[in-house]
Amino acid sequence: MKRASWKSKVGFIFAAAGSAVGLANIWRFPYIVGQHGGAAFICIYLVCLFLIGFPVFISEVLIGRTAQRNPAGAFKKLGKDSFWTGSGLFTIITGFIISSFYSVIAGWVLGYLIASVSGQATQFTTLSGVESYFSNLVGNPFWGIGFHLLFMLFCFLLLFSGVRKGLERGSKIMVPFLILILIALVISGLTMPGAEKGLSFYFKPNWSLITPTTFLIALGHSFFTLSLGQGTMVTYGSYLSPKDNIPKSCFPIALIDTFIALLAGMAIFPIVFAVGLSPGEGPPLIFYTLPLAFSQLKFGYLLAVLFFLLLTLAAITSEISALEPLIAYLIDERKWKRRVAVTIVCIGAFLLGIPMVLSNFIAHKFTLFGHTLFDLVSFIALDIMVPIGGFLALVLVAWRWGFKKAYTALKIGTGSLFESNPLIKGYFWMTLKFCAPLLVILIFLKAIGLF
Ligand code: PHE
Repeated sequence: MKRASWKSKVGFIFAAAGSAVGLANIWRFPYIVGQHGGAAFICIYLVCLFLIGFPVFISEVLIGRTAQRNPAGAFKKLGKDSFWTGSGLFTIITGFIISSFYSVIAGWVLGYLIASVSGQATQFTTLSGVESYFSNLVGNPFWGIGFHLLFMLFCFLLLFSGVRKGLERGSKIMVPFLILILIALVISGLTMPGAEKGLSFYFKPNWSLITPTTFLIALGHSFFTLSLGQGTMVTYGSYLSPKDNIPKSCFPIALIDTFIALLAGMAIFPIVFAVGLSPGEGPPLIFYTLPLAFSQLKFGYLLAVLFFLLLTLAAITSEISALEPLIAYLIDERKWKRRVAVTIVCIGAFLLGIPMVLSNFIAHKFTLFGHTLFDLVSFIALDIMVPIGGFLALVLVAWRWGFKKAYTALKIGTGSLFESNPLIKGYFWMTLKFCAPLLVILIFLKAIGLF
């Protein structure tokens, strides 16, 4: 059977951008910026993106395009031994775990979309009101499991229709739509009284809040937001034709992803400050501060519906890309039919998400090392497994396969890009071989307090 592929280069760009842009940009980025010193964190994050995230991104797409296989098959083809097959499998498992809890949070977003449409999510006057509304919903297992299921069902339908029709067409519509809605939110936020304080928080660095863990979070986030370390970009790269120009396709994706995250911050902080809320609220930031803000804004109802719609759409294109590596693995290596693989994988991710929904419900009774199952799984997957997966891709490309061969493969389809810009080769040589792997190791050692 012929392997699926993108219809055009733009197809890859839109699908990969749809994968990259998601809850990480709009839900997670603002709250971690809020907790870690505003602009200071943004600076560290941008450095991580440039020196580590982007090189890993290129490496993963290159691995996929060269091998034309799922992550396990691709790592094996280039790494040539069972350690690398195992590494590829490790990234696939990471993606699968992430897809299960990602769907739980996306389910909350979907639930808030419905609550916005019915007008319930925009009727708040006090912070304690939104807080108890949020904890009541999240603590209700029927609500949590119901929306987790509904969200998974949407993803299932998109995946079921196949790579070209599903992923490519879906993302082509969603990404531009999303940018437009965010711009509308930024404009309306900026017109609110007191919005300037939000902007100054966002653009004025506060270095005193930076700790070694901040670097780990910035690193993990730069991988998570570009969908790295979990097989997604290897898989999407494998649907590229061998002649596509990788740097030229990947650069706009990293730009769009960063632009949308920065835009999300610009939309959220002026609103947060205008209604007198704290920027360091943490994970529930958008779930209880924004509905409160929307309740007070002039076109709050419309904005709330658009905002949660946007976030649901962005989460769908990300979720399907987190499920795709395992599906591709079952098709390539186990010779399953696409539809069977899609069905089983979606059911599996749904089932795995259920304990995480329940862990919010019974959180105060059942904790492990003082954390709920949900927190623990997301910490292990996002901040530990994802950086390890990205690190393995780097080492595979720069050291196992070898920079020389990788560079020759990377040059395919790039025309005179590298000849006319010698700096670009220097950048890849420096970051792939040395900067990125060393920085990942340093950040890890520092975070666990080893130096
Ligand atoms: N990059 C996605 C986001 O920003 C999350 C994601 C991670 C999607 C891994 C797929 C795989 O929300």
